[in-house]
Amino acid sequence: MQNDLAQRRVESASAADLDMRALHSRHDSDAYELYARYGNEQLVRLLRTIGFDAGFCRGEGQYLYDREGSRYLDLLSGFGVFALGRNHPAIQAALISVLQSDLPNLVQMDAPRLAAILAQRLIAHAPYLDKAFFANSGAEAVEVAIKFARASTGRPVIVYCDHAFHGVSYGALSINGDETFRAGFEPLLPDCVRIPFNDPAALERVLARGDVAAFIVEPIQGKGVNMPADGYLRSAADLCRRHGALFVADEIQTGLGRTGRFLAVEHWGVEPDMVLLSKILSGGHIPVSVALMRKGIFDKVLDSMDRAMISPSTFAENNLAMAAGIATLDVLAGERLIEKAAHAGARLLDAFAGMVDRYELVREVRGKGLMIAIDFGRPRSVALRAEWDLIEAAREGLFAQAITVPLFTEHRILTQVAGPTSHAVKFLPPFVISDDDCKWIIDSVDAVVAAAHRVPAAAWSLGKTFAANFIRH
Ligand SMILES: Cc1ncc(COP(=O)(O)O)c(C=O)c1O
Repeated sequence: MQNDLAQRRVESASAADLDMRALHSRHDSDAYELYARYGNEQLVRLLRTIGFDAGFCRGEGQYLYDREGSRYLDLLSGFGVFALGRNHPAIQAALISVLQSDLPNLVQMDAPRLAAILAQRLIAHAPYLDKAFFANSGAEAVEVAIKFARASTGRPVIVYCDHAFHGVSYGALSINGDETFRAGFEPLLPDCVRIPFNDPAALERVLARGDVAAFIVEPIQGKGVNMPADGYLRSAADLCRRHGALFVADEIQTGLGRTGRFLAVEHWGVEPDMVLLSKILSGGHIPVSVALMRKGIFDKVLDSMDRAMISPSTFAENNLAMAAGIATLDVLAGERLIEKAAHAGARLLDAFAGMVDRYELVREVRGKGLMIAIDFGRPRSVALRAEWDLIEAAREGLFAQAITVPLFTEHRILTQVAGPTSHAVKFLPPFVISDDDCKWIIDSVDAVVAAAHRVPAAAWSLGKTFAANFIRH
């Protein structure tokens, strides 16, 4: 029996179409056509318009390699998942070990051991919380938060912030603070109330109604990298407690070290009732998310044997995701990556902040750890202002692409804008970036921003090309 299984493994491993590296490279020349034909054609058009169609063939650590073998520094890190860098050997080893050990997986009528181990290790980082409820994506963890908040408090209202981003499933979209994502998908969930970020008085006014289940907030808003005022999160948490509402920190982007602490709320000494994590949790390899919460909340929802499976998800707690999570925590600690993120982030922030005085297009630099934005604004000088107005008239926020594109095409640095209509360029580097990488980033950003201040400049003519494209289509 064992031999049969081993034989079957060897046979499948040698089947040509299961060699993913070979299959991937067989489509080097037609990958974009294939994806446009069967997938997202508009994304392919966008990539071609802005010259991002490099055709990446390989990823290792903080680097991506295109079809010519050229090396790019990846500061988008898959929307912030590759904190450990791509294809980290410890994560690969953990995943291979699961695949090769014939563990029972998704038995459903059993206690999944790897899930219990990962839960225990996560709770050790937030010892004021007791329980972990796993899901498969950031948005799903947000759905868990909305459901558990409503069910445990018996109240309907969820409060959220302007410019918030919590994902795009229906519950998460209903607390999305940006019309661009919501438009066309209404009607959304009822009883979701939007307030300005950084406005405790507005929060208190809603809480005073007495029907609020939870305030769900990103400690640092991902879209725009908007920073909380110093006492904001603390007073929001206090207000929630006083009014019987849950304070939920969506740390899906900020959590697991991104801001230089395990949780971003630690910077402000806040202990939420619920913390949502995803992205970095599996080292970027397997979709996974978790809602950590107080026992009182958990037990009010799963309050009897009848309700043991009241909120099931087929793939949650699967072995691959749990193993990747366990390995990720191990690497974060073993390689002291959170300290490294804090150190590299401080260096980048310092260098970028110095550009505010030197360059009139740089309005503000915001961030913490390795979550940073450079925000551009309308320049003062007449010639630059005329150029800015021309491309911004075509599409708000288009100027930022005049920075990301030369960063990519001339300096091989992958970044993106901080949100639709945002004028900020955002950096979410892997925590493993080196001192040389930091110099590469600082020199490149400086060169691109300096070039944008010259009129006529390549950046501006590039902007006008985009403007023409966006107007036409
Ligand atoms: C703060 C925050 N919450 C939720 C989400 C949604 O996560 P997912 O895309 O995995 O659904 C994101 C994704 O960027 C996020 O940044």
